[in-house]
Amino acid sequence: MGMSLNLNDSSVLRTAPGLVISFGLAGQILMGIETEKRKPVSSLALLLIEASRQTSLWSAIRDRLKKRHPDVPAQKVLMEAIRLVALGFLQVGEGETGAVFPRLSSPHYNRPNSQISCLNDVGRSQVFLAAIAAAVGPDDVVLDLGSGNGILALAAARAGARRVYAVEPSGFARLLPQVFADNGFADRIVTLRGRSQDVELPEQATVLLSELVSCEPLGEQVLEIVSDARRRHLSPEAKILPALTKIRGQIFRPDERLLNSHEFQAKNLSHWQDNYGFDFSALVASNPIEPTSHFLSPNRCAKWKPMSEKFELVEIDFNAEEIMSTVDMGVEIEIKESHGTLALVTWFAMDYGEGHWYENQPTEEKEVFLRQCQVWLLNAPKERGCPGKFRLRYTYGASKTNIAWTRLS
Ligand SMILES: C[S@@+](CC[C@H](N)C(=O)[O-])C[C@H]1O[C@@H](n2cnc3c(N)ncnc32)[C@H](O)[C@@H]1O
Repeated sequence: MGMSLNLNDSSVLRTAPGLVISFGLAGQILMGIETEKRKPVSSLALLLIEASRQTSLWSAIRDRLKKRHPDVPAQKVLMEAIRLVALGFLQVGEGETGAVFPRLSSPHYNRPNSQISCLNDVGRSQVFLAAIAAAVGPDDVVLDLGSGNGILALAAARAGARRVYAVEPSGFARLLPQVFADNGFADRIVTLRGRSQDVELPEQATVLLSELVSCEPLGEQVLEIVSDARRRHLSPEAKILPALTKIRGQIFRPDERLLNSHEFQAKNLSHWQDNYGFDFSALVASNPIEPTSHFLSPNRCAKWKPMSEKFELVEIDFNAEEIMSTVDMGVEIEIKESHGTLALVTWFAMDYGEGHWYENQPTEEKEVFLRQCQVWLLNAPKERGCPGKFRLRYTYGASKTNIAWTRLS
């Protein structure tokens, strides 16, 4: 649809004047404005229209979703809301009274598992804690952006920080003051509930701590959120931890199991024909459309045959004069053997601060990694499947990472 909709906590959605809802002969739901031609919409559209009459749109949607569509993710409702706005059936306004749209970042982080997995990743936590112990001193005012389970705020207080602001939008913010009190830091750590873009700090911070790096290193908007925090919350000389993120990669020949579940393979055709009596052979041609990505453990990737040397795709210095908000970087690589489908495995190496590094590279060691590697399938059409030089391009913008590869020789 090519439309983006900027919904924030003060956005309200309303039913457009003159909206008519009717049912088609086949039972489909149709919407239109006054006498205009009606368009088919999903049953989620009815839920949105109904919820837009409530004072809290998000709680209305959540309650009804739970009852009527327990399997539908909230993101799908949001996509339908965007479609209804594009069609003119819902209208969006700012700061008026009415139904308030949800905070988009919270629902996922309200679940305990994302906080537990951070605490269980002892390798990364110990590296981060060592960096905090080295970087934070008694004069520091620390912003813990995305405090979650509270571990980074606690470490900053233990390192002697004069004041720590623990900013967290999810429901965990309600529990944090008790965690801080239980550890003897109630007087130095202040909990603020909200996204860092929305909160105001009473003073500028001299250290920023955040852990917004997921298996897709830039996918949690770390570039955008840290840039905003630097502008609004930090003193000019403030230290930013993590200090540096490098995205690294290597080409491998992936295992059959991965290919079988992600590619249309000729050998499946007779199996499907036998079971269903249908011929799907035309779909086999769809394989080389675009690189698709999956997340797999570094241990599994390490079992594959390497087809190139390791290389570096991206470097982001969070203490540089300006933090980039989009990335477009390329590298030349050489593949020495002929191949069919290859896997580009990417991972990150991060300096959490003061030279304390962490890297989730493919490894046969049985370490527990919170972050998996990102695996991109690069399907080589016949003329590209022989050895040679290639150019890989890694791009990021508006929460989306992409890979493109072209043959050079
Ligand atoms: C991966 S958890 C990290 C938790 C903890 N700091 C740690 O290192 O173990 C990321 C946290 O960032 C929070 N978060 C995400 N976007 C945020 C934003 N814009 N402002 C503040 N916090 C945010 C999430 O709610 C989540 O609790």
